[in-house]
Amino acid sequence: MNTDDVVRTFLDFYRERGHEPITGSTLLPPPSDPVLFTTSGMHPLTPYLKGRPHPQGRRLVNVQRCLRTTDLDEVGDPTHLTVFEMLGSWSLGDYGHPQSLRWGYELLRDGFGVPHEKLSVTVFDSDLQSLDTWRELGLPVEPTQDENWWSNGPTGPCGPDSEIFYWTGDGPPQGSPTSDPRWVEIWNHVHMRHDRGDDGELVPLRQVNVDTGMGLERLVSILQGRGSVYETDLFEPWMRLVPPLWDLDERSVRVVCDHLRSTVVVLGDGVRPSNTGRGYVLRRLVRRLLTVLRRDDPSRTLADLPVEPVEHTLDHFRQPLGADAVRDVLGDEERRFDGLLERGRRVLSRPEFRGPLSEEDYRYLHDTHGLPRELVAGSLSEPSPDREL
Ligand code: SER
Repeated sequence: MNTDDVVRTFLDFYRERGHEPITGSTLLPPPSDPVLFTTSGMHPLTPYLKGRPHPQGRRLVNVQRCLRTTDLDEVGDPTHLTVFEMLGSWSLGDYGHPQSLRWGYELLRDGFGVPHEKLSVTVFDSDLQSLDTWRELGLPVEPTQDENWWSNGPTGPCGPDSEIFYWTGDGPPQGSPTSDPRWVEIWNHVHMRHDRGDDGELVPLRQVNVDTGMGLERLVSILQGRGSVYETDLFEPWMRLVPPLWDLDERSVRVVCDHLRSTVVVLGDGVRPSNTGRGYVLRRLVRRLLTVLRRDDPSRTLADLPVEPVEHTLDHFRQPLGADAVRDVLGDEERRFDGLLERGRRVLSRPEFRGPLSEEDYRYLHDTHGLPRELVAGSLSEPSPDREL
């Protein structure tokens, strides 16, 4: 199955069960929303989970692109990405959690052909209904507490969840999802039935909802029998063209490909680099990528990046931006980065910065000279002709 087949199978399955497809495209939440980027499929649905009637009904399905900066340090491992897509299904006060779990299991086993014995689940320990449902379906269940409570932030809709894991190890499954990292979480079914207020109190929502989310890239890597999301068709041109271009270790290749691809998607959604808000997230993403790229060889440049992977990503996300516009922005950002490096080297060559830098130094360098910590600790900590360490 290629990625398009996976998406089609998911949407068809839920459509056949009365779910209306809703548009889940842009990374930008509606203007009334205080967060910078959409971080999960349920995010744009918050008012409807709280009880506002949705114009398309009570059963919904979509594919939502998301951006998470909370996982940045994990990017480069086999499963985490900065921009990813989430396959989601919702019951807005319609069917209950057991039905959602049964359909989830049916789709994985019959729709995607995932072997029963490679699945395991965790549930919120007092959610006895879900515990019983999984036992009836014959899957190993592990009850937990903190690990099975989902919220999208300190306030708002939240509730206990059931997480479905897939065994990625060689040989027969061992241990359990909380004890062996080879169990990889693929799908979260949230019993969204509470609202946490500003005072921290949990209030029952007017309706009991189900919110499910499954990371598309992870699912595809499993269905395509790949060891990581980077080996799927979604990353094919990136992973074919980037390694010969720059001689990087495997993790750095992944980080560079992830950040470049994410940059393309954010640009495709209309954001431009700046010093505030979304534009600053984008700028920092590019700077992080340049820091990794230049670590061993300062002559590496994004000007060498071919257009094919850029076009592949723009096509996949159906974004109308041209690859040349992406390259222009990358070129501008690279020039700014070079300027920042120059300035940074001058500042860091002062005698007071000769020894190891303290927290206070980092704060000063950032607040007064605009030098981000990752840059000072990364590219600028390398010996260079301009700076003696
Ligand atoms: N809201 C849950 C998540 O993002 C399920 O959609 O994981």
